[in-house]
Amino acid sequence: KKVILAYSGGLDTTTIIPWLKNTYDYDVIAVCVDVGQGTELEGLEERALSSGASKLYIEDVTDEFVEEYVWPALKADAIYEKKYLLGTSLARPLIAKVLVKYAELEGAEAICHGATGKGNDQVRFELTIGALAPQLKIIAPWRIWDIKSREDAMDYCVMHDIKVPMSISDSYSRDKNILHMSHEGLELEDPSLEPQYKKLLQMTTPLEEAPDQAEIVSIDFEEGVPVKLNGVAMSGRELLEKLNIIGGRHSIGVVDLIENRVVGMKSRGIYETPGGSILYNAHEELEHMCLDRQTFGFKQQAAVKFAELAYNGEWFTPLREALTAFVDETQKTVTGNVQVKLYKGNIILIGVTSPYSLYNAEIASFTTGDLYDHKDAEGFIHLFGLPLKVRALMRLSREEKGE
Ligand code: ARG
Ligand code: SIN
Repeated sequence: KKVILAYSGGLDTTTIIPWLKNTYDYDVIAVCVDVGQGTELEGLEERALSSGASKLYIEDVTDEFVEEYVWPALKADAIYEKKYLLGTSLARPLIAKVLVKYAELEGAEAICHGATGKGNDQVRFELTIGALAPQLKIIAPWRIWDIKSREDAMDYCVMHDIKVPMSISDSYSRDKNILHMSHEGLELEDPSLEPQYKKLLQMTTPLEEAPDQAEIVSIDFEEGVPVKLNGVAMSGRELLEKLNIIGGRHSIGVVDLIENRVVGMKSRGIYETPGGSILYNAHEELEHMCLDRQTFGFKQQAAVKFAELAYNGEWFTPLREALTAFVDETQKTVTGNVQVKLYKGNIILIGVTSPYSLYNAEIASFTTGDLYDHKDAEGFIHLFGLPLKVRALMRLSREEKGE
């Protein structure tokens, strides 16, 4: 009997290996899915095997993550509860998809993940596995075992003669990939306290240490997808990596959010999304220029729904796929260049150009133009305001009659 384990090399997933073998007598196949988290991959196989796994697969899906998950969310302008750019939420369905692939390859009967019973990640993993391979069993040790703390986990490892990974200092609950890094737990659980950014931040310079010199970046989009940075064409992954460094330097994209988890509780998290924040900002500026009023307005509503689906782990669903099709249709003219200035946590718009610009200076200008006759406005306002006048007249006539 085989089980596929979502493996990171950290304390939790290391502890899970002997636990799976002892509890179910499973042959444990560890799978590490690389979505740009920058884990030290060297020595990972050795660690997995010495903890009792029979195999470790490492698969780098960072390109797919950027192109098939991050870009669709960017094109949709999807932001959860007005602040969270969904860094973790978007990666979970892809990680689960890779786990399913290896379960099929190995003929495993179950998939095991190390997400806790209190969080969103369990929901995202399991909804995705359900959508792609409903026959697979799911094992979530945190909902089953008696291990309650990091100390318990270390004791369990020691008891089973397993080398505990070095980096197990009591720390925040963190998740990292090429789009973002999240931080939860410890003193962050008191939302009245300012986060200790200096020790917390990993992708971003603390605001107080940001350079006094602003930096300008230029981004070219094609149908809503960023394709060039400062005039140079590059892959999505490379572009995001570079923007993370530039944005991080200028303290861009740090968010402090009390969010509603799927499982009902509120939790407080700090998110670092330097490159992503620049892209979301620039992309929206281009849409301001290229989308007509109705499309822009409707798309704003769709963005809220898209973000909710992504957050909830409802990625492989008919509605999310339909929304992506809608969004892609709107992006056909979202092509052009955006320049922004980065300065101490701020993204300041410099300028936008597009071959599909709907901005017409001749019409908009206060001084010139044949296309727009000031006099037309009078009739327009009369008809536009007619319902208001009709209602006011009705009220007046009732008042006259003393009604
Ligand atoms: N609260 C965020 C979310 O639900 C981040 C979760 C981070 N996950 C983790 N295992 N540390 O998307
Ligand atoms: C976890 O519970 O595993 C992390 C937090 C979350 O999933 O929301």
